[in-house]
Parts: sequence; C-alpha cells; structure tokens
Amino acid sequence: MEQLAIEGGKPVRDKFLPYGHQWIDEADIQAVIEVLRSDWLTTGPRVRKFEQAFADLVSAKEAVAVSNGTAALHAAMYAVGIGPDDEVIVPPMSFAASANCVVFQGGTPVFADVDPDTLLLDPVQVEAEITPRTKAIVAVDYAGQPCDYDALRAIADQHGLVLVADACHALGGSYKGRPVGSLADLNTFSFHPVKHITTGEGGMITTDDPQLAQRMRVFRNHGITSDHRQREQQGSWFYEMVDLGYNYRLTDFQCALGMSQLRKLSGWVARRHEIARRYDAAFAEIPAVEPLDVRADISHAYHLYVIQLDLTRLQATRAEVFAALRAEGIGVNVHYIPVHLHPFYRERFGTRPGLCQEAEAAYERLITLPISPRMSDNDVEDVITAVKKVVKHYAI
Ligand SMILES: Cc1ncc(COP(=O)(O)O)c(C=O)c1O
Repeated sequence: MEQLAIEGGKPVRDKFLPYGHQWIDEADIQAVIEVLRSDWLTTGPRVRKFEQAFADLVSAKEAVAVSNGTAALHAAMYAVGIGPDDEVIVPPMSFAASANCVVFQGGTPVFADVDPDTLLLDPVQVEAEITPRTKAIVAVDYAGQPCDYDALRAIADQHGLVLVADACHALGGSYKGRPVGSLADLNTFSFHPVKHITTGEGGMITTDDPQLAQRMRVFRNHGITSDHRQREQQGSWFYEMVDLGYNYRLTDFQCALGMSQLRKLSGWVARRHEIARRYDAAFAEIPAVEPLDVRADISHAYHLYVIQLDLTRLQATRAEVFAALRAEGIGVNVHYIPVHLHPFYRERFGTRPGLCQEAEAAYERLITLPISPRMSDNDVEDVITAVKKVVKHYAI
C-alpha cells in the first residue's frame, strides 16, 4: 500500500521530483539530427571528435569512447591484463559494476572498507588488503568526490599496482587542482542519463598511455585491429582479430549528443554546487541530518547529495524516513547496498556481513536527495521542507 504523506496531510509536492535527470535541449536534438542525416550512424568521425574534446577537457592524452560505464570498467581491466590469478581492490560502497568488471576478466575483487565520513575508499584499508596477487586498485569517486589520489598513488607505486579511477560520479570534479580524468592510470566515466552528461547509454576511459588506449580501441571492436571506416578508407577487406573483444562501440549520433552536452558541463556542475551549498546551510540546523564530509583540497562534482541520518535522534528506521520522503513527492534513493552483500558475491566469493563494517553501518542510515542542474530553487526548497517535515515528525 502506498504510504500517505505525514499525518495524512497534503504532500510537499504533487509532482514527483527524481533524484537525477537528464537535460536535453534543442541544440542537443539538432546535433543528433545532423548525424542521422549523414552517412555515419555507428563509428564515424564524431567518435574521434568526442574523444578528443573529452581528453582535452580532463587534461588526459587519450580518451576511448565505449557503449557504457560498465564497458569502460571492463575495458580498463582488460587493458591492464587482469586475469584469473589476480586480485583487484575495490570499495564496497559503489554500484556493482565497479567490482563486476574484475569478475568479467576472471579476477577476484577484494573489498577494502571506506572512510565513514566521506564513504571513499580508505587508503589504510587498501594497504591492509594487499597480497602478492594484488594487481590493481579501483578507486570509486563516490557521489562525485574524488578519492585521495596522492595516498592511493603512493600505495600503488610502492606495491607495483595499477590505479584505476571509477570516476562515473565525478566528471567535472578535481583533486588538488587536477581534473578528474587525469588522476589515475585509467579513469572511467558513464553517460547514463542520471550522470553529469548523457549519451543515452555511453562511457569513456581516459589515460596518458597510448598503448593502453590502443588495447581498449581493439577490445571495444571485437578484438579486431581496424574498424569498418578505416578499411573503407584503405579500400581493403582485410582485418585480423587478435584477441577476444566485445562490441562496446559508441555510435556517431551518441557522440554528437555527448559533444553537445559537454559544452554545458561547467555550468551544470556550478549549479550542482549551488544546490549543495543550499542543502549544506539548511541541514546544518538539523542535528539528525548529517551530510557527508567534503575534503578541503578537492572540488566535488555532486553527482549525488547523500545524507546520513542520526537514527539515535529519530523514532524511525531509514526505510521509514525514505518512505515518508517519497510520500512527500521527493525522489530519494539509496546509494548503495554494499556490493559484497549481494547474493552473487556471497555465493561466488564467500563475502559476508562484517567484512566492511563502515560501509555496512553507513548503508543502514544513508539517503540520497535529489540533485540535478535542472532543479529550480523551488524544487530545492521543496526537498528541504520535506526533510524538515519528516525529521520533525520522527524526532525523539
Ligand atoms: C560508480 C559507478 N560505476 C559504474 C557504473 C556503470 O555505468 P553504466 O550504467 O553506464 O554501465 C555506474 C552507473 O551507475 C556507477 O554509478
């Protein structure tokens, strides 16, 4: 049964406010239409253009476009040669794809716990999980806050590990003045509609290593060394499949959409900051609501705005607060169920509750509030009003 707004009263909003939403304007539509009228639908000139623009934006030498963020992570694991004997350290506080990419390659994800205040991979915990089989670290920029890359880089260098950034939340962010996308050996992005820019489905990997980039270009095209367009230009039918790859290509019209969206990124990230500042100010007055800590030396990309509830101050569980906020028309969400608690991981790798206690404790009390550049000031105030109303109702 659907829950009614508190005390059966009128909900704060009649129209549901989603936690994230794409923003497609007329310029985006025209950009796609132009490609639909051209000769190229899949891999064509816009793929390279989008890759180049993206690489420039994040100060990376190379960018490789793929069909989604999961494919980007898979390509990264392939490029660095993860295989059945290898372990890769991943945080539990993420979408399953951050760990699944290791399993795709036959490797073993090893979960290292997160810092309780930021929910970012804790470098101390990373170091504790290193074994002779460890080959890489996947650092997740949870909610859009870049991880502590200097600390992770030092650990990676000391132990000869590859550092991969799952930056699917963090496009437009930076760490000590360096843009996200240039912080790890390989950096992966998603262009799913709730992310900073969208191509419908889509993904990208950035790197400064041209050999890794070339491996990923082959990987996204069935393991074949040339693409259809290159063969046509060379007037040749010959191609060779040199390794097992996949069809992870991004289409030309998606890349045109990506180019058009990219032009708006900095303004959208600035708007995300404005919304976050308004939330920060409002929640500073509510002791039961604790926003995540933000480090001083980073610029947050605010893909998500996550609060932790102080449940000792509330006569309610997180589930009850969640349901009450939904009943007010606020599209709250929960990011994430710790990956090691999913049945697949428990059955395949024997992971159990207690393995990552900080992530598990955070999961019991966190809620994601709506944040997206298209939200009006009124939308933002509705979220604050609803949070205040629900917290007041349940306050001890
Ligand atoms: C942290 C993280 N990594 C990877 C992905 C996978 O991206 P995609 O949905 O584009 O495959 C997501 C998507 O939600 C994500 O949030």
